[in-house]
Amino acid sequence: MELFDVYPVLDIELTKSKGIYVFDKKGHMYLDFYGGHAVISIGHSHPYYVRSLTEQIHKISYYSNSVFISQKKELANLLGCISGYENYSLFICNSGSESNENALKIASFHTGKKKVIAFKGAFHGRTSGSLSVTDNHKIISPFNTQHKTIFIDYKDLNSLEKELKNGDICALITEGIQGLSGIIDPGLNYFRKYWELCIKYDTIFIIDEIQSGYGRTGFFFSHQLYSIKPDLITIAKGMGNGFPIGGVLIHPKFKPYYGMLGTTFGGNHLACVAGIAVLKIILKENLIENAKKMGEILLNELRRIPKIKKISGRGLMLGLEFDFPIDDLKNILIYNEKVFVGTSNNSYILRLLPPLSINLSHIKLFIKKLKKALSYIKNEKK
Ligand SMILES: Cc1ncc(COP(=O)(O)O)c(C=O)c1O
Repeated sequence: MELFDVYPVLDIELTKSKGIYVFDKKGHMYLDFYGGHAVISIGHSHPYYVRSLTEQIHKISYYSNSVFISQKKELANLLGCISGYENYSLFICNSGSESNENALKIASFHTGKKKVIAFKGAFHGRTSGSLSVTDNHKIISPFNTQHKTIFIDYKDLNSLEKELKNGDICALITEGIQGLSGIIDPGLNYFRKYWELCIKYDTIFIIDEIQSGYGRTGFFFSHQLYSIKPDLITIAKGMGNGFPIGGVLIHPKFKPYYGMLGTTFGGNHLACVAGIAVLKIILKENLIENAKKMGEILLNELRRIPKIKKISGRGLMLGLEFDFPIDDLKNILIYNEKVFVGTSNNSYILRLLPPLSINLSHIKLFIKKLKKALSYIKNEKK
């Protein structure tokens, strides 16, 4: 059987990983400044993470949500404590899209309304609801257009208020920092205004922290820089360090009932143990503080490279803008310099999303390799 060919793939097969490095089957070592798409939070193959999962799989790896799974409660308690959202509750699922799908459902159940406002450039996933609030016509099928979504410019507060005033909006959804569109953050004044407007017009405020959360920006959630409290927060990616798991943090005003939400795999023993191990390592190794500190150092180093025209983002979620399309640069970084980096929907912006456990030596190595790759670009242009 052939694979349904939907991914453009690099000609690299990875067979091993350790810390900030991944290794291909030919023995090449790559510096990972992409984190497998912001998924690797605690570093690859962390010994405590590997041990926790190994021990659990020897005991029991899965049973359905019809039985008591103490690891679910342990994960929720730890998450509440580390995120500062102790009074919220947690619904556990399997992916980012599913987290947003459930958040939208919770908002709709609560308000009895259908319409959602999302922002231009947003990416919230590929299941029906999460895709309907994603601003990319290329991946939206006619089936997905049945939802009632209004897309607004990040900074167009007038249009936002005009729509909210109509009284028929169920929720406003935004990424903590837009990732796929090229690391875009409207900043404090806008986020505070979104929050205030949602309170004023009794609309549910959902922040998708799937890429920007879990310590990546130097706060557990990127929105915590602004001291605002959304009604629903969605998580995935860094939560399992590669083990598929997602979740929704839910304000106490939302009341659950049996059958309201559900999933076969979500919250199984193995996934929860992965999630618990990640949080324990984040705490023990001070990875949120490290992301903040290393992010500042990385930013200062990057600012000294004249070919980078603009840098956006915070902590270890950075977008580097060049005045040339970055495809060649990305390929040189990967194939010649052996560094993984990310692209974005903006062909001039390179995304950096390294594990939160990087140190000074990784930054120095990355800067050296980036400068070398940029020098090839210059030579090629001559
Ligand atoms: C901000 C954001 N939301 C949602 C998703 C969808 O997550 P998943 O691919 O796990 O469904 C992603 C994935 O890239 C994302 O970056």
